[in-house]
Amino acid sequence: MNTPNPHANGTSGKRRDPLLLNKIAGGILSAGLVFWIATHAAGIISGKDAPKKPVIATAAVATAPAGGGVPSIDGLIVKADVSKGASFVAQQCAACHSVNSGGANGVGPNLYGVMNDKMFAKAGYDFSSAAKAKASGVWTYQKMNEWLDDPQKDVPGTRMGYTGIKNDQVRADTIAYLRTLSSNPIPLPKPGAGGATVTAAAAPAGLSSGAPSIKPLLASAVVAKGESFFQQQCSACHSINSGGANGVGPNLYGVVGSPMFAKAGYSFSGAVKKAAHGKWTPHKLNEWLYNPMKDIPGTHMAYPGIKNNQVRADVVAYLNAQSASPAPLK
Ligand code: HEC
Ligand code: HEC
Repeated sequence: MNTPNPHANGTSGKRRDPLLLNKIAGGILSAGLVFWIATHAAGIISGKDAPKKPVIATAAVATAPAGGGVPSIDGLIVKADVSKGASFVAQQCAACHSVNSGGANGVGPNLYGVMNDKMFAKAGYDFSSAAKAKASGVWTYQKMNEWLDDPQKDVPGTRMGYTGIKNDQVRADTIAYLRTLSSNPIPLPKPGAGGATVTAAAAPAGLSSGAPSIKPLLASAVVAKGESFFQQQCSACHSINSGGANGVGPNLYGVVGSPMFAKAGYSFSGAVKKAAHGKWTPHKLNEWLYNPMKDIPGTHMAYPGIKNNQVRADVVAYLNAQSASPAPLK
């Protein structure tokens, strides 16, 4: 054999990392494996490549007909924990679905705005004929509940290769989070007796740059505009009156000038406790509110951030004003 074997030790005569080729091969293999799983998992589980009719037929007969037997979890959705839903989706769904506004379709369709949107109709995504045949109207809470409980049972033959979320509370958290993937989230299921709930705008967008300074904007910020933005986007998770209760997020009265992530009686995530340093200044709030999930990865604040500089300035000015002794903003 005269052909130089690149795998043989030292035949190249150059001092290379002896493991380099292995590393490259390993990298290619694992990339291939991930791709294979992504492209085949759906097929296998839905029965595209494997046992066809019998399995599906049995499953469909053995249990209630598509969608039928899943009890409503509206009561749980009203009180669901959106931040848990967000991290569950990040773990279990993100490999196949993007959730940001305008995000690309992947193995599955982008999920921004899915609640109350037409079923299986996301533009630019090629749904299975099984899903298209099952589509009727828009995604309601109950339809989403049935789908996520067991996609294959709900829509036999779907390409969504996911077994379903069997735990009612986790399913409720997930749906409550899906609801927030909208610039104008639909109302929660029923009036339901209280319970802290949810409203956010979008989802982890993973933007790459830091927050632009709002210094020049603070002087002319409009507190009243900050207030109405806060009412729309933040008040579902935060009270801000003096002595107000902590909810999904901590009460925010007097937050400017207070120690970061230290509100009494509120249990902060380990991530923010680790990142806390000193007190909240307008500058630190600017960074936090621009993209909380990027500013402190692992935070429980499931909120994509305020990208408009003037709006961020208005909100910071409003937060600053909610205090017994607001500091002058400069
Ligand atoms: C292995 C990939 C995969 C995983 C994991 C996955 N999905 Fe899907 N999902 C799909 C595919 C593929 C479709 C399209 C179904 C079809 O065409 O039959 C889909 C469709 C959907 C739809 C319908 C969207 C629309 O526009 O009507 C929703 C909602 C959904 N998935 C939510 C979820 C959630 C929530 C999770 C995590 C709990 C999840 N999916 C996990 C692949 C996946
Ligand atoms: C979906 C719920 C949710 C929404 C919406 C939300 N937050 Fe939060 N916020 C939280 C949670 C949860 C925390 C605690 C973070 C942690 O423990 O990781 C938090 C923490 C904070 C903190 C730190 C408070 C402290 O005591 O140090 C500030 C400031 C804040 N949020 C402001 C806002 C503003 C302003 C908005 C609207 C633009 C907003 N939040 C929207 C859930 C939310």
